[in-house]
Amino acid sequence: MNISDTVKTLNPRPAYQGEGQEEAERQRGLIEKLKSYPKKPKTFYLSTMGCQMNARDSEKLKGILHEIGAEETTEDQADLVIYNTCCVRENAEQKVYGRLGYLKGIKRKHPGMKIVLCGCMMQEDAVIEKLKKSYPEVDLIFGTYNIYKFPELLLTMLETNDTIIDIWKEQQDIVEDLPSIRKYPFKASVNIMYGCDNFCTYCIVPYVRGRERSRKPENIIAEIESLVQSGVREIQLLGQNVNSYGKGLEEPITFAQLLERVCRIEGLERVRFMTSHPKDLSDELIAAMGKLDKVCPHFHLPLQSGSDRLLKAMNRHYDQARYLDIVRKLRETVPEISITTDIIVGFPGETREDFLETLKVVRESRFDGGFTFIYSPRIGTPAARMEQVDPEESKVNFAELLKVMEEIAEENNARWLGRTVEVLAEEKSKNDSGMITGRTPQNILVHFTAGDRWIGQMAQVRIKETTPFYLIGELA
Ligand code: SAH
Ligand code: SF4
Ligand code: F3S
Repeated sequence: MNISDTVKTLNPRPAYQGEGQEEAERQRGLIEKLKSYPKKPKTFYLSTMGCQMNARDSEKLKGILHEIGAEETTEDQADLVIYNTCCVRENAEQKVYGRLGYLKGIKRKHPGMKIVLCGCMMQEDAVIEKLKKSYPEVDLIFGTYNIYKFPELLLTMLETNDTIIDIWKEQQDIVEDLPSIRKYPFKASVNIMYGCDNFCTYCIVPYVRGRERSRKPENIIAEIESLVQSGVREIQLLGQNVNSYGKGLEEPITFAQLLERVCRIEGLERVRFMTSHPKDLSDELIAAMGKLDKVCPHFHLPLQSGSDRLLKAMNRHYDQARYLDIVRKLRETVPEISITTDIIVGFPGETREDFLETLKVVRESRFDGGFTFIYSPRIGTPAARMEQVDPEESKVNFAELLKVMEEIAEENNARWLGRTVEVLAEEKSKNDSGMITGRTPQNILVHFTAGDRWIGQMAQVRIKETTPFYLIGELA
């Protein structure tokens, strides 16, 4: 059977272009309809790949599913299996195709099962073509711009046996105010902006998440206020480049000014943010970090490379000296700040000399932690068309980088030994049920001996052991 014949593409352009509130109202009406819909899914399984943006989107999907009365279960039992996908590196995509192969077998035994794919990977034309051709078991596909239409798409999927595909090429309205289930009752992420305009030459995010759009400050504040009223103590503000927050809004506002407004919310205890691009990082923000007590002393500052030549080829708009200057200023202004980073090894044209420049910045910046990646060519990005490097050499450099970063993180963490730190307790430790896991203001992971009743509380923890990746302690 040729699956493309039965594929129905919904609203390639949205039929409805009203205000966000009206659209949210319409989707809420469809949630009501779904609640009593006979064929509605009773159980679901949701797998989230990629970054915090996807994690936040999944909270929205979950909120809608809970609202219609569906309960979470395991993958092989679920009426509805959803993959919220990522495409930032190739292995993330391979994982999805691998899972689809597995699900095909399960679906044979459980014919009522519906398979849903959404998220960044679905914004790639080549992926949609491949799915249409080779994966007829998928029932519903949508992208990153129309996630708020999930109730409508779900209903359409239940009413037909066709594969429903609804991918938009750009964002229309920002639709807020739909249900969402937050992972923790005491800490939450809040989008302050969507998309990215930076077009780093290796990165696919601007193509799959669209142009940068800031949310209005009053909507952000209102959302945080209501979260705080419901018991949230820690907020993480999310954006691909929070330092350029506010561009394009009617009311001129900078990210530092937004932080100040957020910190004025009574009852809120900790504020974090992700991610900062060094090129737009202002002295105003560094000063705000120094003076706003609620802002946690942690800065995630992706370096990507320490080589000026590669930073230029990556279109990052800063050089090694500027990066090191920011690190110096942050350390001067914010006592005990922890700085973490992202680094790519094996970008096209990277020589051993370029890599040694990266190591030099790592040693000088003394990162507390970081994510390191081997460069993965992404179709459609400029770097994928550049001359690629020998993967074997990248692997050697990558291993060396990991080792140096680990040594530094170990030395940094050792400074906490014997001290008492404040930890927001999050959950039971995965490997030791007598322990609770949480994070310090510096975002360092701590495992400490305590009972479950501490979850959601701020604990004073004395550190008795340190490792490169976490600290171990007991209640002070
Ligand atoms: N907006 C954030 C990063 C989002 S993507 C920022 O600019 O800091 C998260 C990380 O994935 C990036 O910082 C980068 O280190 C890595 N990354 C992005 N594209 C990649 C690619 N093609 N190959 C390998 N790593 C990549
Ligand atoms: Fe990708 Fe660069 Fe945008 Fe980050 S700033 S999402 S790395 S294009
Ligand atoms: Fe991946 Fe999309 Fe985030 S591509 S890293 S999930 S924005």
